[in-house]
This record gives sequence, structure tokens and C-alpha cells, in this order.
Amino acid sequence: MALDDLFQPLTVRSLTVPNRFAMAPMTRQASPGGVPGRDVAEYYRRRAAGGVGLIITEGVRLPDPAAGFPASVPTIAGDEVLSGWTRVVDSVHAEGATIAAQLWHQGVERRDDDGVEPVGPSGIDGHGEPRGRALRTAELAEVAQLYATSAATARDLGFDAVEIHGAHGYLLDEFFWERTNRRTDGYGGSLAARTRFPAEVVAAVRAAVGPDYPIIFRFSQWKGTDYAASIAEDPTQLQELLTPLVDAGVDALHPSTRRHYAPGFPDHDSELSLAGWTKKVTGLPVIAVGSVGLETEFRSEKRGEVIAPAPVDRLVQQFDAGEFDVVAIGRALLADPTWVNRLRRDELDGFGGYDAAAALSKLA
Ligand SMILES: Cc1cc2nc3c(=O)[nH]c(=O)nc-3n(C[C@H](O)[C@H](O)[C@H](O)COP(=O)(O)O)c2cc1C
Repeated sequence: MALDDLFQPLTVRSLTVPNRFAMAPMTRQASPGGVPGRDVAEYYRRRAAGGVGLIITEGVRLPDPAAGFPASVPTIAGDEVLSGWTRVVDSVHAEGATIAAQLWHQGVERRDDDGVEPVGPSGIDGHGEPRGRALRTAELAEVAQLYATSAATARDLGFDAVEIHGAHGYLLDEFFWERTNRRTDGYGGSLAARTRFPAEVVAAVRAAVGPDYPIIFRFSQWKGTDYAASIAEDPTQLQELLTPLVDAGVDALHPSTRRHYAPGFPDHDSELSLAGWTKKVTGLPVIAVGSVGLETEFRSEKRGEVIAPAPVDRLVQQFDAGEFDVVAIGRALLADPTWVNRLRRDELDGFGGYDAAAALSKLA
């Protein structure tokens, strides 16, 4: 098994990714007034030129005041915003890469510095504390429609796919998670009920984009407020969680993990990653992610701590075992836009690890 196999194309509906490397979605807050400028287009173009086959944009705020904060997170409505995205899409395509827009509603995790009240399934945040308000049942279809019209806009702009952000404790994940979903109207309670609204969002998006346009869905066990959280305790629950999404029209799944090599359910298999389990229980193409090419932590109290990077060999081994189809790279690509080409040319030193902390502050 050689690294070369990761440089073979993959087709999912109308999307053909030229290789198996994606740029992970990363919020940069560098789009004043929600408008992605020339610097943002250039930032993505550099990663495309550096060998990435699929760019997944930073989370894009749905065009509703409650959906996101701050204003420097790009949105997807208005002439100036849309021409900004056209420039981004054209720049990435000119380098031979593809690009998906990540659609984001922050739910009750939305900051409210501007006085806009956050909304979520129950008005309860990731710590289990009251925050914002619960969406009324009648409002849910409107929120699903926001995703749908934004997805159709992305398609019309030339994006090759959309990714629905259902991870990390934001709106759709708040529906999945028992801690944040206390609803009694058929959208909370059992796992099937908690999956219902995210599946309705997928169905609305599918209806808006047509049968051949690829829909990626990102989910996670961990939350921004709780790294140890989980929404599926075992492979059976994972299947129960994902099947309604697949039935509603998802084409590829993107389980967000902090370490690509960590076992998804250690009690059931000492090695198989969450990506591997996701493929196993759905049969769909899967994007793996988490700490590829990294040497140090960057968050909070762990900042700078060495995390013993897994060699790229481990990644290749997982690919060979059929655990994933595409791997997303986040922080290593902030640190070095040419990381994929350097990997291909065998020019990475040692494990190819980077301290990405320094790269986070600038849009380079
Ligand atoms: C600065 C930064 C911003 C991020 N923003 C998003 C985001 O907008 N949407 C999302 O789904 N994940 C976001 N993430 C998570 C990344 O997509 C990725 O899953 C994570 O960084 C792990 O991959 P890595 O170890 O290769 O960096 C962000 C991560 C970083 C470092």
C-alpha cells in the first residue's frame, strides 16, 4: 500500500475530487460584514495550489440574524457577499481543486454581544445552563428552509458541494445531544426523535439542490463545551443516528474527531476509528480528520503541549483498511498551504509536524 493511492480521484454524485485530501472547515473571522474579500479568495487559492483536492470553507453563517456571530464570519446572501464567493470559487477552480460551502447555524452557542437572542432546541447551552430560547415547533420548517435556500445559492454560485455543519455543539448537534435537547414535541426524547430535525434539514436541502448535487454532513461526538461528550454510545446507536440522515439524502459523512487514529468505540474494537465505524454502518464515503501532521495542541490550557503525532504511515494504513475515503487537514494547512504537495514529494521532515498556533492569528 502506497501513499499514491491517496492521490487517486473520488467521485460522489456530480463531484469529482482530484485526490483524497480536503481542507477542514476553519472559521477565520476575516470577512468584514460577512463579505469574503480578495484576501480570503487568495487564502483558499493558496491551499488549492498547494495540492488540496477539496476545500471545505469555514462555517458560513446562514442569512438570519440569529444564525451566527460575529459579522466577520462570512454569510451567503447579498450582492457583495455573493460576488465575494464567486471570486473564491473561481480562484479555487483555477487551481484544479474543488470547493464545498459549510452551512452553519450556531444555535444557542451564538454569542449575543449584539443583543440578538440565540435560539436552539430548548434554550439550554452545552453546560446544561439556560441560554437563549427554544425554537417553536412552527419555526423549525423556516430554519430548515434557510439551509435549503443557502444550499441552492451555493450551488448556483458554482460550489461543487455543500457541507451541513451538524457538529461541535452548534444548532443541529444541539438537537442530537440529550443535554441540550429537552423537547417534548416529537423532536426530542428518543435518539430517533433527536435526529428528526437534522434529517428534515437534509431533506429540505436535497429538495432544493436536486438529486445529483453532493450533500456532506459533518457530525461529532465532542462538543466545544465538552470534549468527552457523546451522542452515540455504541455502533448500534451510531447507526440509528446516521440512518435517517442517509435516508433523507446525505451523500458523504464527515465525523469530526480530534485524533484520526483514536478508536471510535474502544469497547467494541481497539483500533477502528469513528470514520471507520461510520463507513461500516452506512456504507457511504467518509471524510476522516483530526491532528494529521500536528505536533502541538493549540487550545486553552493545553496550548503548546506535544501530542506525539501519528506518522503518516498510520493514516495510509487506515486508508488501506477502508476506514475513510478522504482525509481533512486543518491546522497543518494553516501553518503550511503546501503541506499536501510536500507530502506527495516526500519533503516533510520526520512526521511532518507543525506547531500551528502561530498560524492561527493571520490569514496567510
Ligand atoms: C481556527 C479553527 C477554526 C475552526 N472552525 C471550524 C468551523 O468553522 N467549522 C467546523 O466544522 N470546524 C471548525 N474547526 C475544526 C476543524 O475543521 C478540524 O476539525 C480541527 O481543527 C481538527 O483538525 P486538525 O487537527 O487537522 O486541525 C476549526 C478549527 C480551527 C483550528
